[in-house]
Amino acid sequence: MNFPIFPAAASTTAVATDRLYFFLLAFSACIIALIFVPLIFFLFKYRRGKVTSRDEPHLPTMKIEIAWTVIPVFLVTGMFAWAAEIFFEEEVPPANALEINVVGKQWMWKLQHSEGNREINELHVPVNRAVKLTLASEDVIHSFFIPAFRIKQDVVPGRFTTEWFQPTRLGVYRFYCSEYCGADHSKMAGNVFVLSPPAYAAWLAHDSPHETLARAGENLFRELGCSGCHVGSAAIHAPSLSGLYGKLVPLSDGTFVRADDKYLRDSILQPAAQIVAGYQPLMPTYTGHISEEELLHLIAYIKSIGQDATAQNP
Ligand code: CUA
Repeated sequence: MNFPIFPAAASTTAVATDRLYFFLLAFSACIIALIFVPLIFFLFKYRRGKVTSRDEPHLPTMKIEIAWTVIPVFLVTGMFAWAAEIFFEEEVPPANALEINVVGKQWMWKLQHSEGNREINELHVPVNRAVKLTLASEDVIHSFFIPAFRIKQDVVPGRFTTEWFQPTRLGVYRFYCSEYCGADHSKMAGNVFVLSPPAYAAWLAHDSPHETLARAGENLFRELGCSGCHVGSAAIHAPSLSGLYGKLVPLSDGTFVRADDKYLRDSILQPAAQIVAGYQPLMPTYTGHISEEELLHLIAYIKSIGQDATAQNP
């Protein structure tokens, strides 16, 4: 649909969202007509002084009551199911999505690809490929909004949020911060460049970052001293991290937790909160010693050793 007051519909979810949106508009227009057309008609029909029958009409009131209860129940339940389906699809990124990290701060967006390429207030992505964004904030709540893709997600300090999209059309689209975050909130915006796959590959290569996210994380892992405890030969015995990502981890309180981005983040910032079964709470907290970007690098590293070492660590 190319309505001039509307942004382009340039992602898989945009089309579905628009269909629902225009249906809701049309539905609301029907309801308004249903009320206002008879209202205006009766205004004239029963105007004071007008000669017309004012006897009480004999209507099947029970049938009318049942009809105007049951029909709307089905209509609104159907609308709920329709919207919920779109919502759930928008919430769950496909497994093979390209992963890009986004850090919001007053007042700019810093984006980084897993190959290491960095961008500020710009995002380059390939067309027809699902892209998952992991969003973090260095200060206050921001919100990452790409109108042409019909997605918007709050970026909240102290945790990761995610959103995903699959662009369907080449072009340049605007993105914005849509949560008021201070003086230059309105300048916290940029462009998404949707490129053909070869153009995207060329862009990645042209930018030629000197290290991937995982490599940056590996260096940090050594600099911060994580490797002093978390590799097999270390004097202090700490859980091994290879093959960890995505696994269920047994905790000392008898529960299990999935080793996802959130768990890794919490374990670095609040290591005493969830202790792995059989280990002592010896690890110091890294809160205040590590930036959101560095956290994302460390997690990229832990993910990468997860993939390489899965075979040896069942
Ligand atoms: Cu960031 Cu508004």
